[in-house]
Amino acid sequence: MRRFLVCGLALVGAVFSQSVDTYVSTEGPIAKSGMLANIGPNGSKAAGASPGVVVASPSTTNPDYWYTWIRDSSLVFKALIDQYTVGIDRTSSLRNLIDEFVTAETYIQQVSNPSGTVSTGGLGEPKFNVNETAFTGSWGRPQRDGPALRATAMITYANWLIANGNTSWVTNTLWPVIELDLNYVADNWNQSTFDLWEEISSSSFFTTAVQHRALRQGITLANAIGQTSVTSLWSAQAPNVLCFLQSYWNPTSAYVTANTGGGRSGIDSNTVLASIHTFDPLAGCDATTFQPCSDKALSNLKVYVDSFRSIYTINSGIASSAAVATGRYPEDVYQGGNPWYLCTAAVAEQLYDALQVWSSQGSLSITSISLPFFQQFSSGVATGTYASSTSTYSTLTSAIKTFADGFIAIDQMYTPTNGGLAEQFSRSNGAPLSAVDLTWSYAGMLTAFEARNNTQFASWGASGLTVPSACQSYSGPTVTVTFNVYATTVYGENIYLTGSVAALENWSPTSALLLSSADYPTWSITVDLPANTNIEYKYIRIYNGAVTWESDPNMSITTPASGTYTENDTWR
Ligand code: NOJ
Ligand code: NOJ
Repeated sequence: MRRFLVCGLALVGAVFSQSVDTYVSTEGPIAKSGMLANIGPNGSKAAGASPGVVVASPSTTNPDYWYTWIRDSSLVFKALIDQYTVGIDRTSSLRNLIDEFVTAETYIQQVSNPSGTVSTGGLGEPKFNVNETAFTGSWGRPQRDGPALRATAMITYANWLIANGNTSWVTNTLWPVIELDLNYVADNWNQSTFDLWEEISSSSFFTTAVQHRALRQGITLANAIGQTSVTSLWSAQAPNVLCFLQSYWNPTSAYVTANTGGGRSGIDSNTVLASIHTFDPLAGCDATTFQPCSDKALSNLKVYVDSFRSIYTINSGIASSAAVATGRYPEDVYQGGNPWYLCTAAVAEQLYDALQVWSSQGSLSITSISLPFFQQFSSGVATGTYASSTSTYSTLTSAIKTFADGFIAIDQMYTPTNGGLAEQFSRSNGAPLSAVDLTWSYAGMLTAFEARNNTQFASWGASGLTVPSACQSYSGPTVTVTFNVYATTVYGENIYLTGSVAALENWSPTSALLLSSADYPTWSITVDLPANTNIEYKYIRIYNGAVTWESDPNMSITTPASGTYTENDTWR
């Protein structure tokens, strides 16, 4: 009986992984052509989109995804550029498409939109019409992951071009776009942003993580092509971004809190996507950059996956250490709040990335942080480092491979027979839901398959970075503003200034800034204020501790992009 059982299990395991192999070989080409179909102007489902423009999905109603998002487009083209540069697809048609993407993004980057112009915040605009005009409806904006993801895609292409003798094209064509994007990142990484799901305005782990990666890669590229004169701010801010990244870790519950706002658990595939999109095969299991095999990323993965076990009907009855369908975050209600193909595939991808690194370093380590993750596969396992020659290593890595394949098998089970990948599949019966043929679903499947195939992509320099001991925030570029106000006062009475930004003490009368009476009856002060910003303020007078405000309405100025500014007022 026991013999039979063991045999039976082994057989089930073999059949199961064979079917995942089959899915990889049939779905892989479908995913690739599904991506290409949604790219204008010749993609079969993208008629009407400009050359190189990625349509998020051909769905035009409920939801209407007939737009191009900077995030989706950049992730899709990063995957295509990776295929081109490592030689999976070195065709001239793909090369032409990549060049069209570069042309399209170079144009879109300059399009004024509700977030601003190219120099006043417009790079944070999340989506555009497919003919490259601005989308002017209300939306969750800005979304500050876009410029970073676009820079990373272009830098990946740039690095290959340099290695293949085309540095001048990089310098003349790619660099100006990359430079604008990374200046935006360096200036704004510390400003609030909508998260990648376009819902919460705060700080967001995915956004911070991809911003950090992009800055590091940009500095390396600048050095390679002799463009170092502009990167001092990037070099100054990259360590601060890395420092800030650490603050999302929740040590009590052992996961990464995805957003600093939003009032949810913070358990979110945001963090898993961050890990796979900042994977560096040469960075080992470094936890500061949240590498896929780091103890923090593995602990986080367990918390994330487990959060979906009991909320989706299709996950019921699945063993507590086996793969399940996962979505954006457990509280999600968008389009029914269902599992997403790309989120479930991302779990598998993180695990394949981890297996790749353990294999190349010849060992795996278990810390007290990652112990619960590993105990899923071997309840008696202890903290320590296990060389690849040990049975513990073999037991764990083969169980983790099976676990990872299980997530692909879930996506496989709910993929319709034509191989099409929508955005979501029903939490109650697995039927495809929401946007059909989501370009990002195809890209997410493709990159998970490549990780499963052990494809080696380039390092981005995550190895050996140090986190500063004290984090410094950064409020972006400033301009020097002088306020002069004509105000007669009695002896012992003073004039102060306060207003709507931190540099003007956020409307506080008690910490308002004292003006100088050196040119009485004109009172003056010079302060550094955020550039390109509308700022409200008032003067107040304080006499014997009694505060008198100017009459309403508030005064306001819009600061210039650079330089200095003088405001002359009369007390009101
Ligand atoms: C549309 C966004 O694309 C989606 O991410 C979000 O969940 C819904 N709006 C609801 O805010
Ligand atoms: C909604 C998703 O939440 C967002 O991340 C994505 O950019 C858009 N759909 C377009 O696919």
